Amino acid sequence: MRQLKSARESQSRNPERPESYTVRVAPTKESILFSPRSVLVTGGAGFIGSNYLRYVVPRYPETRFVNLDALTYAGNLGNLTAIESADNYSFVRGDITDATLVASLFASHAFDAVVHFAAESHVDRSILDPTAFVTTNVHGTLVLLQAARDAWKSTSLPVRFHHISTDEVFGSLGYEGEFRVDTPYNPRSPYAASKAAADHLVRAFGTTYDFPYVLTNTSNNYGPFQFPEKLIPLVLRNAASRLPIPIYGKGENVRDWLFVEDHCEALDTVLRRAPLQSTYLIGGSEEVSNIDLVHQLLSLFDELAGRNEEPSTDLITFVSDRPGHDFRYALDSTPIRDDLGWTPRHDLKSGLRKTVAWYLENQEWLDGILNQEYLSYYDTQYSERG
Ligand SMILES: NC(=O)c1ccc[n+]([C@@H]2O[C@H](COP(=O)([O-])OP(=O)(O)OC[C@H]3O[C@@H](n4cnc5c(N)ncnc54)[C@H](O)[C@@H]3O)[C@@H](O)[C@H]2O)c1
Repeated sequence: MRQLKSARESQSRNPERPESYTVRVAPTKESILFSPRSVLVTGGAGFIGSNYLRYVVPRYPETRFVNLDALTYAGNLGNLTAIESADNYSFVRGDITDATLVASLFASHAFDAVVHFAAESHVDRSILDPTAFVTTNVHGTLVLLQAARDAWKSTSLPVRFHHISTDEVFGSLGYEGEFRVDTPYNPRSPYAASKAAADHLVRAFGTTYDFPYVLTNTSNNYGPFQFPEKLIPLVLRNAASRLPIPIYGKGENVRDWLFVEDHCEALDTVLRRAPLQSTYLIGGSEEVSNIDLVHQLLSLFDELAGRNEEPSTDLITFVSDRPGHDFRYALDSTPIRDDLGWTPRHDLKSGLRKTVAWYLENQEWLDGILNQEYLSYYDTQYSERG
């Protein structure tokens, strides 16, 4: 394992870096390579972004965090009440595709880090209409890269751009194997294709302009504050309202689940400790089929809600499958565990228990975000599949 010599030195690019993007140079577990002072967080009103801000804002009072979010249907400032009045936090409503706005934010806040979450993130919506996915996920990422490159081209200070991506860029696995950092990309949904394009742009900036990025691909997240179009909150919302619980196909598709707070800790670790131009895969190593997951969730729901009537599993309704539904994702997270010392604190059982308890205690939050747009989307998505 190579010992990194100094913070400034370790900011510089790895001279041994091969042409491929798969480089990893292991820092020691203790080494902090980077301590940002002013961070632009995009998409911080969404599910993972808001969990991240609630994790980092109180933890790093000397660092300023600016949250740039367009507040699409998926963004909700109610996710951020715990930190909204913190001195080191501010919110700007705006679109990442707005190059003038992004450049002016760089000029006024002198960001030395960008943590880029903002995206259209829901596969089913990308199948209904991919346009916004290309606009935000590809063009929006390009706008941020250009602004960061312009702002940072003559700086000698440490700076870095953390691009948050998904395991879906790698395609679909059979029963065996795991995605690794050098697995070729094979995106199969418009969402995955747009994230893959953004990842390629980030790495191309690295190669072409020596741009200081780190990139992470993560498995399915779950936990508090997730919008109820995604599987786990959708199941919990429908169970609470005694509505049918739609499961695609036979529910055999397998996902690797990661509790969102563990993901946020991993992201903070990568931003501070990973070598520049490195990629890390972040998974929970908790694989389960959708139908098994839903059974676990519903039995926890019945237990924690104190229900003694008919079991909530009676609400499960199988509906026609998502087109091109990827069968299985699994990530090899050994490098982030070995190199950076990160490991998830929650297994699926404890993470699901916390999640179900949170949704039961926060019914008002859930009711508050179920607007007309969501209800008509839900209708389009499920009413004709029964
Ligand atoms: N949720 C997961 O399981 C998961 C897994 C792997 C990777 N990711 C990636 O993590 C990131 C965050 O995912 P999430 O689940 O929190 O998404 P989300 O849909 O909950 O939140 C996205 C946020 O981005 C904002 N946004 C969308 N378009 C914007 C634009 N043009 N300009 C500014 N803000 C905009 C939205 O208002 C919202 O607050 C995404 O990049 C996603 O691809 C998510």
